[in-house]
Amino acid sequence: MPVKVAEEFLVHVKVLDDQHAQLFDLIDRLNTAIVSGKGPQIVEKTLAELCDYAHVHFEEEEGLMKKAGYAALSAHRVAHRDFIAKIEGWMKEAAAGRKQTLTGEIAAFLNDWLRKHIRIADQQYVGILHAKGIK
Ligand SMILES: [Fe+2]
Repeated sequence: MPVKVAEEFLVHVKVLDDQHAQLFDLIDRLNTAIVSGKGPQIVEKTLAELCDYAHVHFEEEEGLMKKAGYAALSAHRVAHRDFIAKIEGWMKEAAAGRKQTLTGEIAAFLNDWLRKHIRIADQQYVGILHAKGIK
């Protein structure tokens, strides 16, 4: 069951809010694993899951922004691509064995990036999507 997402992160477009909840859930699971000392054991699996899910989510989000004629789509798309590139870089590092220090770094980045991105960048498309009847 998806985690409850705080009001400030909601975009009030059901499919996107559900996907954001899945991303928050993934971060929560990573944080829990780190606290219990299991971060390095799950880091590769978490990154692979995150990479897959980020592709699915960004594609959906960008599709809706395009459909709505959102003017800042290309800049938003760049932010998404940079995020994917960061995750792919970490996947290579994890595969090369740098798991111990990597988990904390990833959790810190995700906690910060994802919350900021959803609370600030994603909120900017809400008005136009709603105006086009996308909810
Ligand atoms: Fe986004």
